[in-house]
Amino acid sequence: MRRIPLEIKGVLAGATTSILILVATFAASGTYRSHVAQETETGRTPLTAENLAAKGRGLFFQSCAHCHGQDADGGEDAPSLLKLQISGAHMALLIQSGIKDEMPSFGKKYDAQDTAALIAYLKTLH
Ligand code: HEC
Repeated sequence: MRRIPLEIKGVLAGATTSILILVATFAASGTYRSHVAQETETGRTPLTAENLAAKGRGLFFQSCAHCHGQDADGGEDAPSLLKLQISGAHMALLIQSGIKDEMPSFGKKYDAQDTAALIAYLKTLH
């Protein structure tokens, strides 16, 4: 269930802040590798690092793979995401805001948790 008390969809600043908090939380507790259940900051369904990344993988196939490749190894017009050098916060910003004339923004489509899932997936590609 995704009940968001404060409707943040579409509000870039709010979403970005939530993502930064999420990313910081994950980074600080090292949950990308652990099996510890992690509750998101909005108190929604607890997610383990594994199923967060699995969810992100699904979202990636829906929205990103046609440009970045099924294996995120690059497509005709978009670069490989396999060896990203950028931080999770930077990924969040790119996904939410897009890149002018290059990549669409997903700030309306994906909320903070979806974006965190995508980032968790991208981080498994390292
Ligand atoms: C319309 C095609 C397209 C789609 C869809 C798309 N991207 Fe991109 N993306 C690009 C292009 C092109 C670039 C490179 C832009 C540049 O280098 O200026 C890029 C760059 C990026 C980067 C930065 C790469 C780096 O090396 O710094 C990330 C991260 C990224 N995309 C993630 C995603 C994610 C996650 C999704 C799905 C939610 C997605 N993209 C969907 C075209 C796309």
